[in-house]
Amino acid sequence: MQKEIIFDKLWNNYTAQNPSVKKVYDLFKSEGEEVLNDHIAFRTYNDPRISVDVLARPFLKAGYEYKGDYQFEAKKLYAMHFEHKTDPLAPRVFISQLKVEEFSPVLQRHVKAVVDKIPVGTLESEGLIFAGNVWGTPSYEVYKKLRDESEYAGWLYVYGFCANHFTVSINHLKKFDTIQKVNQALKDNGFLMNDSGGEIKGTPEELLEQSSIKSEIISIRFQEGTFEIPGCYYEFAKRYPDADGKLYSGFIAKSADKIFESTDFYKKD
Ligand code: NI
Repeated sequence: MQKEIIFDKLWNNYTAQNPSVKKVYDLFKSEGEEVLNDHIAFRTYNDPRISVDVLARPFLKAGYEYKGDYQFEAKKLYAMHFEHKTDPLAPRVFISQLKVEEFSPVLQRHVKAVVDKIPVGTLESEGLIFAGNVWGTPSYEVYKKLRDESEYAGWLYVYGFCANHFTVSINHLKKFDTIQKVNQALKDNGFLMNDSGGEIKGTPEELLEQSSIKSEIISIRFQEGTFEIPGCYYEFAKRYPDADGKLYSGFIAKSADKIFESTDFYKKD
């Protein structure tokens, strides 16, 4: 599958499920900006049937290559990032996985049960990356149990395979050329920033600054009824050149650690 087709489909699913992310995109477009993506991100469990290696396959086929990996000790996550070999404007792909064996037997059992439910044809399909929840209508009780141990585990149980976030490349914006200007425009338009660890994660000295809005609260149908929980979010990134004048292209684990919290459960006021 060509990368353009993959990204279009991911974008369509992402904006259909999370209307606020389309509003963010429209905000920049209405200001005459061209919106390019710095990266998009996926979440998964480290079960070998759906691990990072499995989700990376369609991207490797579409011309991507492995570029780096990251450990998140506190959140018990591992991630890899991939870049396109020849197209410098293609978004980076960041795929993380939950280290399931480091959690309780209850969580491990629930994860195994949902992965067991995925049809073999879906597991082997290139379309797995946008298949969403492939284990059926979630249980709110299970969601809450997973969330008590890991917000990430609970989120993934509900949404499955989709772009967890797209990330606007601030380097490609004209008017909004600093992360401060981007954040101010978002706040002026009523978006809630993820301020865990400060609104801006990273510094120019670290060569990467990132911010994100909190996930929109959306209505999800569970086995027990409809409940409102956080969906996907939008992220913003500005990269700086290193000593050789080359734009830094990696990720900073301590910044990404806080960005993960953009999907943490919160009550809508
Ligand atoms: Ni990100």
